[in-house]
Amino acid sequence: MAAAKRNQETAAGWAYHNATKHSFRSVRDNVHFLDWSNKPLPFKIYRTLDPIELPREVSPLGMPALEAISKGGWGAEEKTIFPAFHRPFPTPDLKDLAQILYYSAGVTKIKQYPGGEIMFRAAACTGALYEIELYLVCGDLPELEAGVYHFSPHDFSLRRLRRGDYRGVIARATAREPSVTSAPVTIICTGTYWRNAWKYQARAYRHFGWDNGTMLANLMATATALNLPARVVMGFVDEDVNCLLGLDADREVAFSIVSLGRSSQSAPESPAEIERLTLETEPLSPSEVDYPAMREMHAASSLFDEEEVRQWRGAMPEREKTEPQGRLIPLEPFGKDEMSREGLGTVILKRGSTRRFDRRSSLSFEQFSTLLYFSTRGIPADFLGAATSGTLNPTAPAATAPGGPHLNQIYMIVHAVDGLEPGAYALDREGQAIEMIRAGEFRREAGYLGLEQALPAEAAATIFFIADLNAIFERFGNRGYRAAQLESGIIGGKIYLSAYAQGGGASGLTFYDDDVIQFFSPRAEGESAIFQVAIGRSAKQRMEVVQAAT
Ligand SMILES: Cc1cc2nc3c(=O)[nH]c(=O)nc-3n(C[C@H](O)[C@H](O)[C@H](O)COP(=O)(O)O)c2cc1C
Repeated sequence: MAAAKRNQETAAGWAYHNATKHSFRSVRDNVHFLDWSNKPLPFKIYRTLDPIELPREVSPLGMPALEAISKGGWGAEEKTIFPAFHRPFPTPDLKDLAQILYYSAGVTKIKQYPGGEIMFRAAACTGALYEIELYLVCGDLPELEAGVYHFSPHDFSLRRLRRGDYRGVIARATAREPSVTSAPVTIICTGTYWRNAWKYQARAYRHFGWDNGTMLANLMATATALNLPARVVMGFVDEDVNCLLGLDADREVAFSIVSLGRSSQSAPESPAEIERLTLETEPLSPSEVDYPAMREMHAASSLFDEEEVRQWRGAMPEREKTEPQGRLIPLEPFGKDEMSREGLGTVILKRGSTRRFDRRSSLSFEQFSTLLYFSTRGIPADFLGAATSGTLNPTAPAATAPGGPHLNQIYMIVHAVDGLEPGAYALDREGQAIEMIRAGEFRREAGYLGLEQALPAEAAATIFFIADLNAIFERFGNRGYRAAQLESGIIGGKIYLSAYAQGGGASGLTFYDDDVIQFFSPRAEGESAIFQVAIGRSAKQRMEVVQAAT
């Protein structure tokens, strides 16, 4: 298969990125009507497999959401829970898995509309189309036999695709990534092209990263609240993982893996040959439209063997720190005793995307600082380095550290944060400060950059993820593009949770790619817009307060 190794052919990555940019012109030239009669089912439904019901008692997860999103990961449990940092090794049971699946991909709200109902899920997702599916690969666990399972959110159950311990397949596919090799269970997240492309066409491949990311923010925080070590792994042999799950890779592909728990015994060797799975599923809609650009991007960012995976994983080389050009304003996050202690479960259940922000309400500088402080740390991932060396190193400066490795830079347009002059800013992670780029009232510009929507104009602030794709492609090849999108989604998901934990609101947003860069230039010159989230107070909340007071 050596001929098919294309990860370093980064012209393919750039071609996808450039072809899927939004601009003022592109949204007018490419008018896309939604065919509601052909809207895809938001669930994957296996026709012939019996459900294995998951326990329905859901624990409220009392750990403060801000704490849960900012720590944890593989190696963390020794420091926080077992100071002697050795046994016991935490092993998730069926109830833990039920919590993790519910709080990351479960149906948390059902709303009726004239055209039917929408089952909203725990994590935000572009267009509420829910194209990310979750699968489990586990050894024998308390109350769950070893196997490969699909999680079905519509009836909150698992369906067994294979019986037996296949963890060795995942261990091999990840080139024996240490956290995977010792995990009693791994969760595999896949993206289904058509389910999101129905609305977003070829841009849906970017959405895989964003929507998988918001889900992983919830998932990792839930694992932390349950004292389970977890780690995101993006380096794996694509074909081996897709084949284990029986995916038709023209329609659905594995995007990320999470190792969960730690066992003292390594995963058993996998069988050399794996039987092909052919399981019937309900069609998503009467017909499907294929967008070859996404399959092309996927193929060009696929890894083909263990050696390629081994070389792929690890951090970006250290970059020279750009000296701040503007005024630095130190963040002032709330101290432990003043910060919100609202529990993770409560915050996830009340989260929703704010549909209208109240432009008269502001955030305090402490709330804003707290949100930035807690959302930008705590991502244990193979593309961010640490704990990948093969040895257990709980003191490694993982991505949980404030200035730890990251792919995305954070830029902001601030409209209404008390004590902060409105304007454009960049986050200086190491210095835990924000740097002023340009002062000014930019509500109109923010609305324009967010595809002319009201949300970013009316919010208190808008947070942009901007990445140096040249450097990312150079280090990680096309696969780095997947990682940059995923990282932005994970931080975006944490921003949602930290906004809601503090009584605020948030919404993910799409954007005019090149105009965002132009707005933040010369500072952001040569870089690429990856994702955007607006934060503030919802107009609905304000109305409720006014109504209660009158
Ligand atoms: C990555 C991402 C991008 C989004 N972009 C927009 C957007 O441009 N405009 C918008 O109104 N909502 C946007 N949303 C919000 C989704 O429409 C919302 O998450 C979805 O309808 C599910 O609802 P919920 O978040 O309230 O559960 C976005 C959400 C995500 C996660």
